[in-house]
Amino acid sequence: MSATKHKVFDQARSILDKIESFAAQKQEEVEQFRIKYIGSKGLIKELFAEIKHIPPEQKKDFGQLVNRVKKAAEEKYEALKSNLSEENTGSQAEGIDLTLPADPIPLGSRHPIAIIRSQIIDIFGRIGFIISEGPEVVDDWHNFSALNMPENHPARDMQDTYFVRKDPDFVLRTHTSSVQVEVMQRQQPPIRTISPGRVYRNETISARAHCQFHQVEGLYVDESVSFADLKQTLYYFVQEMFGTETQIQFRPSYFPFTEPSAEMDISCLICKGDGCPVCKNTGWVEILGCGMVDPAVLENCKIDPEKYMGFAFGMGIERIAMLKYRINDIRLFFENDIQFLDQFRHAL
Ligand code: DAH
Repeated sequence: MSATKHKVFDQARSILDKIESFAAQKQEEVEQFRIKYIGSKGLIKELFAEIKHIPPEQKKDFGQLVNRVKKAAEEKYEALKSNLSEENTGSQAEGIDLTLPADPIPLGSRHPIAIIRSQIIDIFGRIGFIISEGPEVVDDWHNFSALNMPENHPARDMQDTYFVRKDPDFVLRTHTSSVQVEVMQRQQPPIRTISPGRVYRNETISARAHCQFHQVEGLYVDESVSFADLKQTLYYFVQEMFGTETQIQFRPSYFPFTEPSAEMDISCLICKGDGCPVCKNTGWVEILGCGMVDPAVLENCKIDPEKYMGFAFGMGIERIAMLKYRINDIRLFFENDIQFLDQFRHAL
C-alpha cells in the first residue's frame, strides 16, 4: 500500500516540476500542454482518479498536492497563452519595427498674405510702430467724412463702396485709413502705429483687382514730423522688405486726407530699372500712397493742428506679395489652391 502511495505522490511531484519548468515557443506547444495536463484525458484528471486508491490518512495531503498541481497547470497555461498572443499581435509577427521613428505628419504652409503681413509688422515694429486694429464695418464718418471726404465729395468715387446700412450709413471699410481716425480719437500724440487689415471694394474681380484685399496703414503724429521723416521711414521699409539694391521715388499725387500727398514707386525688382512688362518699361512700380496728414483730419479727431503734425501711408499687402513672389493674378490669394499655397512652405 505504502509503495503505491509513494509512487503516486512522486508522480504528482514530478508532474508539478515539469509544469513549472515548461516553456513554449509556438501556439501548438501551448495547445499540447493543455491537452497533456488540463485536458479531459490529461494527467491531472488521472491524478484525481488516483485519490480513491490513497489510504484515508493520506488522502488530505494527496488532495492538496493534486490541487497544487492543477492550479500550477492552469496558471501556466494562462501565462503561456498571454505571452504568445502579445508576441503575435506585436509587430514582430508582421515584420514591423516599432522602434523606428514615425512617418512625419505633413505640416500646412502659411498663406503668403500672412507671411508678408507679419514681415511688414516686424519691419515697422523695429522702429517703434505698434499695431492698432479697427472694425471692418465702420460708419460713414470713419471711412470718409473724418478723412476730409464729406458727402458728395468726388474723391469718394475713388473707392467703390459696399453699403451695409443706410441712414445712418455703415460701410465695409474701403481702406484701413479708417483706423487712423479710430486711433486719433482714442489717443493724443505721440502716435506711431501701423494698422493691417482687410478692406472691401465693389470692384469687378479680375487678375488685377478684387472685391476684398488687405492693406497696412501707417500713421505717425508728433510735435515735429517732416516729409523727410516720411521719406526716410519708407526708404528703410523698402530696403528691409525688398533688399538694399532697391531704389525709391516719390510722385506728387492727391489724397483728400493728406497734404501734400505722394505715391511712392520702387525700382522694378525684375529688370532692376531697365524696363520690362512688369514695370511697363518704366523701370518703376508703384507700391503705396502717402503724405502729410491734413490738418483738417487732425482737427476732426480733436488733435490740435497748431501743435501737432504727422505723416501717413497706406499700402496693399497683395501688391507687395505679388511683387515679392512674382504672382501675376490677385485671385490666387483667395482660391486656397493647395498647389499654390504649398509653394510658400519654406517661406519665412
Ligand atoms: N487710403 C488710401 C487708399 O486706400 C491709401 C493711402 C494713401 C493711405 C495715402 C494713406 C495715405 O494713409 O496717406 O488708396
